[in-house]
Amino acid sequence: MKAAVLKEYRKFQLEDREISDPADKQGQVEISYASICGTDMHIFNGDFHPRTPVPFVPGHEMAGIIVKTGPGADSFTPGDKVAIDPIIWCGECPACKRGHFPACSKLKLIGIDMDGGFCQFINVDQGMLHIAPEGIPLEHLALVEIYGIGFHANRRAGVKPGDCLSIWGAGRVGQVILQAARTITSAPIFMVDVIDKRLKIAAEAYKDVIPVNALDSDPVEEILKETKGLGCDIAFEAVGHPNHVDRTIHPVRGAIQSIRGGGVVCVLGLTDDPAPVVFKELIWKEARIIASRVSHGEYPVVIEKLKENLLHPDILISETFPATKIQQAFELIEKDPENYLKIMLQFNL
Ligand SMILES: NC(=O)c1ccc[n+]([C@@H]2O[C@H](COP(=O)([O-])OP(=O)(O)OC[C@H]3O[C@@H](n4cnc5c(N)ncnc54)[C@H](O)[C@@H]3O)[C@@H](O)[C@H]2O)c1
Ligand SMILES: [Zn+2]
Ligand SMILES: [Zn+2]
Repeated sequence: MKAAVLKEYRKFQLEDREISDPADKQGQVEISYASICGTDMHIFNGDFHPRTPVPFVPGHEMAGIIVKTGPGADSFTPGDKVAIDPIIWCGECPACKRGHFPACSKLKLIGIDMDGGFCQFINVDQGMLHIAPEGIPLEHLALVEIYGIGFHANRRAGVKPGDCLSIWGAGRVGQVILQAARTITSAPIFMVDVIDKRLKIAAEAYKDVIPVNALDSDPVEEILKETKGLGCDIAFEAVGHPNHVDRTIHPVRGAIQSIRGGGVVCVLGLTDDPAPVVFKELIWKEARIIASRVSHGEYPVVIEKLKENLLHPDILISETFPATKIQQAFELIEKDPENYLKIMLQFNL
């Protein structure tokens, strides 16, 4: 089979690789589409070294068709379309024993901690395969993983019907938080970013999405003005590495300032830099700050909402490339974030 191998950081090459038969209780999936995620951009640049030493095959957002089943694999049959959950919990650490799997101290992901799905075939344990009903295009099925992050964040933050939200960061993660939220609440949602095109994607797809470019106006002032001084119920931070911090409020601090008394801030952005949190601003509101990591148990709801056409996967996809153009795809996302949100790679060449 062909696999897209990161031979050295910033350099992909399509190579021939062997694929073994699926082991016990595994299915072999012929990958149809895989999606490039922000984490893949970090892997590409070597930021995850030594967790991802080269040569390496990334890819943790993917979907395809079952072509073979291993001994004892009984929950699917060849021909089934599946979304692949890349997360492997240890099941034994104190967090796993409490059922809090995203906090697993030994959590591993296919495509980050081991070779992943930027290839034509992959063997995966049956518990990580989610069969999709007819009617969902395979390309959209490859987005179930990132949608899971959006639905999980909504669950962690406790979004309810009628909740007004602010989402800081209209990138890939911010957009899926919004789409998941819109299956729950129809109240106003403020999207904050520094890229107009990304804000526009959200505001054109949904009613009552209020775009705020932090370079043009102070998002906290805007949110307070629009909510008559009350603030929103819940704020999500999905930026991670803020740009223009000299000219814009830090998203974590802005999120705290934008919520009402007793509100919730849910943080997702991953960075090693400390955020300038003034805890007094949180304490005065007796507000809660909560974190959200990956997803747990959200695949079925995402697949159901895709089937019901309640999500907008098309607006996340900027372009679809054959896997042979993987190098170009990574360079485009890096160079041109205004025009490229998600690029899908097609592996059934
Ligand atoms: N917690 C999790 O489970 C989880 C999962 C996936 C990704 N992440 C993290 O979430 C973050 C976002 O990921 P992504 O793929 O959406 O990245 P992204 O680059 O697509 O989105 C980040 C957005 O923040 C915007 N931004 C930059 N500076 C800003 C500022 N000062 N104010 C407002 N907006 C600003 C950018 O323009 C961009 O659109 C990253 O840190 C990523 O590592 C977390
Ligand atoms: Zn991802
Ligand atoms: Zn564990």
